[in-house]
Amino acid sequence: MRFLITAGPTREYLDPVRFISNPSSGQMGLALARAALGRGHKVTLILGPVHARLPQKARIIHVQTTDQMARACFKHFPRADCLLMAAAVCDYQPTKLRTTKIKKSSAPLTLKLKSTTDILAQLARRKRRQLLIGFALETNDLQANALAKLKKKKLDYIIANTPASLASEHIKPVIISADGSVERLGPLAKLSLARRIIRLAEDHTLLGDRRGLHK
Ligand code: CTP
Repeated sequence: MRFLITAGPTREYLDPVRFISNPSSGQMGLALARAALGRGHKVTLILGPVHARLPQKARIIHVQTTDQMARACFKHFPRADCLLMAAAVCDYQPTKLRTTKIKKSSAPLTLKLKSTTDILAQLARRKRRQLLIGFALETNDLQANALAKLKKKKLDYIIANTPASLASEHIKPVIISADGSVERLGPLAKLSLARRIIRLAEDHTLLGDRRGLHK
């Protein structure tokens, strides 16, 4: 199979030296890439800025901003069999990008932000035969919020988790599928979860092939 995987944070620059971002380490997406490669699949990894060892056999596209990640995803999505959207994408970007550094002053500084492209929702609209698996980061009402995202973004599966997993090697996920099944897993290593997700994608695709859905 051909996997398109996103990982890491995106950055939204306020000026040439300052940006808004989040503490995503990229570990979940990198684990997915390793697990897919380990099963002999092809991997294109669209990766935000992270400090990590990178899987050698993946085709890696480095990006910084949400717009760059969106462009790379739109380009590579048509050839993918499965999208694994593990990136922690910034939801907002400054309305204007300053080309010179914002100078310090004692007056309060107000930043005006606008929403970024929802990459996953956009890709769902372009979906043909691809399997779409998203992640949901929730501080509260984990299952209800994740289910709402799965429906809104028209996903096949969503992996819900909490901010505790952000810069950790472990994760306590809930896997929700479009057919309504819910699987709660205890805390496990991100690589173990990644292997489960790749098997899920393989089984789903095999089933689709048997039913003639992927022709
Ligand atoms: N996502 C995306 N583009 C965005 C924001 C999120 O593709 N601009 C993707 C993430 O990679 C993830 C899924 O959408 O797979 C859900 O992301 P999450 O941050 O949990 O939710 P949001 O859609 O951003 O909603 P909210 O922040 O309100 O919870």
